[in-house]
Amino acid sequence: MAPPPRLRSTENEAPGSGPPALILAGRAFVRGTLQAVEFAVDEDGRIQSLGRIRRGAPRHDVGDAVILPAATDLHVHLREPGPDTKTENLATGTVEAALGGVTLVGEMPNTEPPVTDVEVLEDKESIVNGRAAVDVLLYASPTRPGSLDGLARHAGGFKIYLSPTTGIADVPSLNEVPSLLDRLAPLRLPVSVHAEDPRQFRQGMDAKAPPDWNVERPPAAEAAALLPLVSAPRALRLHVAHVTEAASVTRLREAGLSFEATPHHLLLSERSGKSAAWKVNPPLRSERDRAALWEAFCRGEVPSLASDHAPHSGTAKEVDFARAPSGMPGVETMLPLFLARVRSGDLPLSTLVAAACDRPARWLGQPLGRLAPGHRANFLVVDFRARTTISARRLHAPCGWTAFEGWEGIFPREHYRDGQAIVLGGEYVGRPVGRVVRPEFAPVPSPGTRLVRPSG
Ligand code: DOR
Ligand code: ZN
Repeated sequence: MAPPPRLRSTENEAPGSGPPALILAGRAFVRGTLQAVEFAVDEDGRIQSLGRIRRGAPRHDVGDAVILPAATDLHVHLREPGPDTKTENLATGTVEAALGGVTLVGEMPNTEPPVTDVEVLEDKESIVNGRAAVDVLLYASPTRPGSLDGLARHAGGFKIYLSPTTGIADVPSLNEVPSLLDRLAPLRLPVSVHAEDPRQFRQGMDAKAPPDWNVERPPAAEAAALLPLVSAPRALRLHVAHVTEAASVTRLREAGLSFEATPHHLLLSERSGKSAAWKVNPPLRSERDRAALWEAFCRGEVPSLASDHAPHSGTAKEVDFARAPSGMPGVETMLPLFLARVRSGDLPLSTLVAAACDRPARWLGQPLGRLAPGHRANFLVVDFRARTTISARRLHAPCGWTAFEGWEGIFPREHYRDGQAIVLGGEYVGRPVGRVVRPEFAPVPSPGTRLVRPSG
């Protein structure tokens, strides 16, 4: 195979930069393709320039591996504060993220207590600082109208639940949603929505396995919940979480809304496993629906990939299916599963990098997700020959199980945060220097195909 073209000279340079602190050389994903390149990283951990760099500084050549921007996961549940921080917490969950190539997590507010006022949010910030291995953006729950302005000054985004789920019992009725969205629009923060309409749920099912759960909370509940969202004010930065249906992809693209799909809805179906480990909200769908969502993802029609990492202990999951909590861990395996699909030729690398790195970071207004001057030097070194078999024994989630046991994964060999290694040789070598981040620039409002255009 012919060697990839080299970029000419330092064609892209951040202004006013001093000598680099680190030079990184190798094949890297730049402007949509892999090309041989050298990066200079400045003392603040930002990418200073790309091209041929002759000046000194420690130089790291990644050899046959490739350099990718690190991923942003828009959707995790790290359970802290909460009653069971042995199963997951902000320290363990962010180490799992680091090892899975995720450099920023969006942490959901359905903790105990839930993040409905500024005091809880400030407590959560203080837990992140000094304990997190990667950066964390904190969502707040806008259920108390009086607390919205205060929350908006502190939170990184809002999360609205339209149906009951773990830790969420009271939800707004669907006819209250338009006025809630109107109140959120001027606050300019990203708003993520759990879109299932509980009026479409089938009551009294006594679900015994994932196919029953798919009947109890059917695709029609997702379709109905999208109705008030697609007509929301254009100024609102609206994002729909864990979309499960190809029909929703079409609808949301037409409406120009942001949305995500999870590894489990893209790779697993209601027939993948029988126990409550495979119970999630929204449910795993039929194989036909899963395949259609996967096709849409491979065509680049799903703006973001997000894990909805939601661990529960093995004991909690062992009760009968109907009473078991919904959710599965996923932040450590998300990118490795999809890198393996790139290696097997099923998924273009450019589609994965756009969905896992570039668009989610833009959505949260972060200078991450692209190997471009001025962006943070948060990148991964991936050796595509290093295929492994995923096994809970070798993962780092304290819950101790994964629905992806036996699947193929390619884990990043190295992960750098602001130019400093936090993973080397596949092992965590970092320190708890992760911090709470908030949007630094306006989220890109229309994340359909238009999002591939560079901005910011
Ligand atoms: O499966 C899920 N688990 N869906 C949710 O909406 C919540 C999550 C959790 O927190 O366990
Ligand atoms: Zn979730």
